[in-house]
Amino acid sequence: MNAVSFSEHAFSVEWGPLEASKFNTLLHAFSEAKKAVLVDENTQEYCLEFLLTSFEALADAEVIVLPAGEQSKVLEICAQVWETLTEAGFGRHDLLINLGGGMVTDLGGFAASIFKRGITFINIPTSLLAIVDASIGGKTGINFASYKNQIGTFSEPKATFIDLRFLSTLPHVEWKNGFAELLKHALIADPDLWLKLTACQEISEELNQQMIRRGVEIKQEVVLADPLEKGKRKVLNFGHTIGHAIESYYLHSDTPVSHGHAVAIGLLLESHLSMTLSSLNQNEFLAIERAIKKHFTLQIPRDINAIWELMQQDKKNQNNEVRICLLSRIGVCQHDQKLAFEDFERVYNTYLV
Ligand code: GLY
Repeated sequence: MNAVSFSEHAFSVEWGPLEASKFNTLLHAFSEAKKAVLVDENTQEYCLEFLLTSFEALADAEVIVLPAGEQSKVLEICAQVWETLTEAGFGRHDLLINLGGGMVTDLGGFAASIFKRGITFINIPTSLLAIVDASIGGKTGINFASYKNQIGTFSEPKATFIDLRFLSTLPHVEWKNGFAELLKHALIADPDLWLKLTACQEISEELNQQMIRRGVEIKQEVVLADPLEKGKRKVLNFGHTIGHAIESYYLHSDTPVSHGHAVAIGLLLESHLSMTLSSLNQNEFLAIERAIKKHFTLQIPRDINAIWELMQQDKKNQNNEVRICLLSRIGVCQHDQKLAFEDFERVYNTYLV
């Protein structure tokens, strides 16, 4: 029996200017509670002041600042968050507000979900990646022993508030990170969204609200159907088995690749596998290849054995077999497909020059 359950409103997502949202009402419901705002150095600089000056209820909030970057998504940094909450006397009825990108919402959600067996947290995603993926769906976590999201929980935020104005200060590389996840959502579920996304020349404001909303909708639909990833939710990991391995491989190197960039490479290679092992047709594969190569450079480690070893740790594996997701066509994805090393090797080697 699984102790975790998700309510229908588990993925309550509210769009629009934060000041006009139910965020204020929620803060009032926590008027007696201690409140902490978790940021990284970037959201401290660009987003925090707006939050603190717009909401009186946050005047006395504890502010916890994390070093920016994926390297912070680790146990030591998490322990610092727990230390601050402990020193400030936080208890079960207090509130943590995660204001940031995927690193902040993943780590903050995780920290909150096990502090004193769980305190309430709210996500205010400020990057495209956090908006379309990380901040919704209840997955929280940290990296461990070089493996991505190795430790984590399924824990629902009280709510997620999406205010697209935060994207105005987002650097280009961060737009690309989120774009890769949007491409993934389109590939697994929505050929129309795929066409709209691939028609974009520039990844930034050209990605209009409608496309971003559709990406979030796809994520919500999949998660609501399978919140604890027993089956269908695994399709949200399309591109991630190889993508996470590549990201982990470079994590502690001089040339780390961002999550979105690694996922984009994973999308390409897993699409190629979809053509050789499933029914994705060549024209659709070539369209995927063109789209990925237009926006991302292929940074592929030569050490295929190291990548395969990292893939062995993927959370979707079963019986010591690597299981991946494969497209049967754009918009339709199958999960739990066995992957043999020989098939992986044949495709991987075509990308090594
Ligand atoms: N990022 C994949 C998921 O939320 O399931």
